[in-house]
Amino acid sequence: MQYKHQKHLPLGHPPRDNFFGFLTGHILTLRQHRLDFMMESMIKYGDFVEMKLLNKKTFILTDPNAVGWVLKYNANTYPKNTPGYKKVSKVIGNGVFTEVGDSWKEIRKVLQPFFNPKKFDFYNQTVNKVAQHTILKIRNSNVNELNISHFATEYTLQVLGKIFFSENLGDEVMKIYEHLSILIEITENQLTEFIPLPFGASKKRRKDFKYSLSILDNLIMNLINDARKKEFDSNNLIHSLVKACPEKDDQFFLDQVKTLAFAGHETSANIISWCFYFLGNEPGQLDILKNELDKFSDKKWIDNEDIHSLYKLDHFINEVMRMRPPAWSFGRLCIQKDIIHGTDVIPGTLITISPYLMHHNPRLWKNPNQFNPERFQTDDIHPFAFIPFGAGQRVCIGDRLARLEIKLILANFIKQIDFTVTNYKDIEMEPLIALRPSKEILIDLKFK
Ligand code: HEM
Repeated sequence: MQYKHQKHLPLGHPPRDNFFGFLTGHILTLRQHRLDFMMESMIKYGDFVEMKLLNKKTFILTDPNAVGWVLKYNANTYPKNTPGYKKVSKVIGNGVFTEVGDSWKEIRKVLQPFFNPKKFDFYNQTVNKVAQHTILKIRNSNVNELNISHFATEYTLQVLGKIFFSENLGDEVMKIYEHLSILIEITENQLTEFIPLPFGASKKRRKDFKYSLSILDNLIMNLINDARKKEFDSNNLIHSLVKACPEKDDQFFLDQVKTLAFAGHETSANIISWCFYFLGNEPGQLDILKNELDKFSDKKWIDNEDIHSLYKLDHFINEVMRMRPPAWSFGRLCIQKDIIHGTDVIPGTLITISPYLMHHNPRLWKNPNQFNPERFQTDDIHPFAFIPFGAGQRVCIGDRLARLEIKLILANFIKQIDFTVTNYKDIEMEPLIALRPSKEILIDLKFK
C-alpha cells in the first residue's frame, strides 16, 4: 500500500543546533524550547519536516492526510515501539497503552467492553455521584481559596477508583498520585536529558524511582487483592479481567490498572485545570456558560442526561482541548519501508505527531491562536485536524469517559459555586509528557 495523497510536500529542514549540530542534530534546541521550536519549524518549513535526534531521524507530520495515513490507514507499519513509550513502560509496565502487536490486540479486546456505551448507564450514575460528592465536599469545607490542580487530580482519581473498583479510594488517592507523579517526573527528565547526570545524582534518582515504584505497586496490588475478595460484580474491572484472563499472573493485572491510572487521570485533570485557566483568561466565557446553565435553574444537580443539551459547554471544552491538548506530542516507529509525500521512509525512522501543532496549524485553522469555541459549531473540520484523543486503532479508549467527567464537574461547579480565577496571568504551558499548566491554578470561592 502506498500513501496516495495528490500533494507531494517538500521535506523541510530547519537549521541544526549551533556549534555541535553536525553531531547533535536538533536535540539541544528541542531540549531548550521544544514546543516553540517545533511550532516555528511548522510555520516556516511546512507540514513535513525532518529533524535529527543525535543519529536518529524523525519526521514531524502536520499534514492531516499524512497523519491519518500513519495513525489509521497504514497503522501496522507504524507501531508504538518508540524510545518514549519504552521509557513510559518502565513505570506502568506492559499495559494496553504501551504494548504492540498481538499482545496489545489481546488486552485491548479484553478492556474495550469496559468502555463501551452499554456500560454507560453504570458510568453515568457513578460519575454523577462522584461529581456531586466532590462539589459538596468543597461547599462543606468553607474554604476561601481552592487549588484547582489538586482538586482536579483528586476528582479524576476518585472517578477511576469508583468505576474500576467500586471503591471510595479516600486518602489512598493522594498517595497513588504522589508516587505516580514522582515516577512521571523522573521519566520526563530522562526523556529530555541529553547530558547524563553525575554518578551520585543519577544513583539517587534510580533509588527514588525504585522506592516510589515499589510503593505504587503495593498500593495498587492491595486494591486488586481487596477487589478479588469481593463477590463477583461485572462492573468491577478486576473481576472482569480475572474472568477474561484466568491464566494471567498478578503482574498482568497490576500493569493494566497502573496503565489506566496513568493514562486516565492526569490527562483529564489537566483539561479541567486548563478550563479554569481559560475561564479566567477569556472575558465573557464564564457568563456564556452560566447563561446556558440557566435552563436548569429549577434543578439542584446537572446530570448526564442534561449535559447533552449543553452545546456551549461542549464547544468550550473542545476549544480548551484544541488549545491545550494534554497528550501534546506522541511518536510512532516505522518498521517497514514506506513512502510519504514522495519521500522514502526507511525502517527505524521515528514519526512525530503533535496534536498541539495540528491544532495550531494556520493552514488548518483560522486564527489558531485565538480562543474561539464557536469554531466548533461547524462540522467542517478535517477528521485528522482535531486529534486530542489521537486517532485510528490506538485512539484513546477512555475518550467518552473523559468527556463525561469533565462536563459533569464543570457544569455543576459553575452552577453551584461563584468563583474568580486569581493567578491565570502567571500561568504558562509546561510541555512535559503531558501539557501541564506551569503552576497550580488557584481560584477564590464565594458560595451561593
Ligand atoms: C482529556 C482526557 C484524555 C486525553 C486528552 C487522552 C488522550 C489520549 C491520546 C492522544 C491517546 C493516544 C496516544 C497515541 O496514539 O500514541 C490516548 C490513549 C489512551 N488513553 Fe487516553 N486520554 C484521556 C483520557 C483517558 C481516560 C479517562 C482513560 C481511561 C480511564 C484513558 C486511557 C487511554 C488508554 C488505555 C490509551 C491507549 C489505547 C491504546 O493504545 O489502545 N485516557 N489517550
